[in-house]
Amino acid sequence: MDTDRLLRELTDFLRIPSVSTLPAHNVDCRAAAEWVAGELRRLGCREVQFLASGTHPVVWGVGPEVPGAPTLLLYGHYDVQPPDPLDEWTTPPFEPTVRDGKLFARGAADDKGQVFCLLKAIEATGRPPVNFRFLIEGEEEYGSRVLFELLRREPERTGADVVLIADMSYVAPKWPAVYTTLRGLCYAEITVRTAKSDLHSGEFGGAAPNAHEELVRLLARLKTPDGKIQVPGLYSAVRRPTKTELATWKSLPFKDGEFLKHRVQARALTGLKGYSVLERLWALPTLEIHGIMGGFTADGAKTVIPAEATAKVSLRLVPNQKLKTVERQLAAAVKRFVPKYVQAKVKFLHGADPATVKLTHPAFRLLDQAFREVVGRGTVPARAGGSIPVVPALGKGGAAVILTGIGLPDDRLHAPNEKLDLKQLWDGIKVFRRFYELLGARGAGDGR
Ligand code: BES
Ligand code: MN
Ligand code: MN
Repeated sequence: MDTDRLLRELTDFLRIPSVSTLPAHNVDCRAAAEWVAGELRRLGCREVQFLASGTHPVVWGVGPEVPGAPTLLLYGHYDVQPPDPLDEWTTPPFEPTVRDGKLFARGAADDKGQVFCLLKAIEATGRPPVNFRFLIEGEEEYGSRVLFELLRREPERTGADVVLIADMSYVAPKWPAVYTTLRGLCYAEITVRTAKSDLHSGEFGGAAPNAHEELVRLLARLKTPDGKIQVPGLYSAVRRPTKTELATWKSLPFKDGEFLKHRVQARALTGLKGYSVLERLWALPTLEIHGIMGGFTADGAKTVIPAEATAKVSLRLVPNQKLKTVERQLAAAVKRFVPKYVQAKVKFLHGADPATVKLTHPAFRLLDQAFREVVGRGTVPARAGGSIPVVPALGKGGAAVILTGIGLPDDRLHAPNEKLDLKQLWDGIKVFRRFYELLGARGAGDGR
């Protein structure tokens, strides 16, 4: 493997600041899409197209035809999360730098480095052993709306035997994983208004309602101090993991103390008592406050009673919750918890249903074998706390959806100093190459 060349190429990809949620980066998203398209052409794709290019294009590709071989759809995303806070990065987020065998850059692990890995594994096979299809999108990090629309209009795009997604991590170093669920997401802005406009806090304070005060009271009502979300009906669809699952999780190299000390780096873990940490992360819904806006937050002091305040919040959803139901439940809870004299609005920004996949298709055994041969251990079934909105849609056509990845738990996704261990990348290329070859050897007939 020519690792110097590969590292140079990945660096070019990572240099592009394709932050999908910030309109100022639209041209960069386009450039990242072009980069992907160029790679697909180099891989000999018969067809490379930008679909739904109203916003950030979905890159679609059809690989060389391999008669009699199964069809494998690779899904990934070329967009990244905003890099701030910038001053916490040791080296700038879009100047990829290797330190200590790790490549530091926004998108190194999520997901450009992993998309790169999937593509370079094809290159490594020499001649593609399966019929490749590609859907590499540019809006995953803010809800995948464009791809959703596209798949609703053209569901045949997902017509494949297997969909492979590498956008996750091992559960621990040397422990590759395949994921059986992803959490869903319900992202909203809650705005409260208490008066026509801001008021002097001396003239009116004591007798006039305060929007910030009402908002924080509302937010505090939505979750108890010990982690129970108070949205009526929210837990009714939630199922406990099976005994087998809980037993598997117990055997994983996961220690609450280490998780707290090295990953969370806080004073204590929080959440629902009586549930293991993994159950809280993987099998229970959450409610997080991301930010609160309004009132006076500039330097200095201003004596004002704010008339309006907004909070950005999100809930993570677990099987069998439904986004639509949770949206209704949240809106109803907000209405119920604010006093009559407060106007409250809930605006939903984006969301996703949770995803569940069964590990029954023979392709899972082949991936397990590929990891076993290259890394020395097969894939352990786990669940994921994060979300990939289009996963349920990708499985609708009957393809087996494989959720896996080559990252490590300490990659710092969405945070400063995101990284990818180069050993993970080189191993990953070997693993996926081997997987493609094993899948190709099965033939289309027994592909499912
Ligand atoms: N790759 C992540 C999803 C992920 C992270 C799965 C960790 C499993 C473990 C993905 O890029 C992501 O961050 N998704 C967003 C989706 C959202 C913005 C709709 C997420 O989970 O916040
Ligand atoms: Mn991702
Ligand atoms: Mn992400």
